[in-house]
Amino acid sequence: MNIFEALRQEHEIQRDLVKKLVETHGDTEERKKIFTQLKHELAIHADAEERHFYIPLIKKDMTQEKARHSVAEHHEMDELVEQLEDAEMSASNWLKIAKDLEHKVTHHLDEEEHEVFQMAGKVLTEKQKLSLADDYNKAITKNR
Ligand SMILES: [Fe+2]
Ligand SMILES: [Fe+2]
Repeated sequence: MNIFEALRQEHEIQRDLVKKLVETHGDTEERKKIFTQLKHELAIHADAEERHFYIPLIKKDMTQEKARHSVAEHHEMDELVEQLEDAEMSASNWLKIAKDLEHKVTHHLDEEEHEVFQMAGKVLTEKQKLSLADDYNKAITKNR
């Protein structure tokens, strides 16, 4: 498995969870459960992805700007997660913020897969693509 395949696996989990989250209603166990899972997945993925994908990309001229942009989006997603934690689950505002998060996450994953991966494919060596996948997978397994 290379780093792109490893990241894509996690992206699918996130896509599934945000989609489920916006289909939940009010202050329910279902909404709490999915939000907790999504929050955890976003956190462990962003952490491992920054360490084992974006740090090597920030070191290369060609990918530096894209890598910084993606890391900034991780922070924007964190802020939306914090807003959801502060809002009342029963309020209509909660779903509005959840939909903002869904858009942000979907846009971010698409941009990574369609733009960042292409550029990264050119700057990383084949050996790096494999060793980064190993490091990334270890970090995820440790935190899951
Ligand atoms: Fe990301
Ligand atoms: Fe990602």
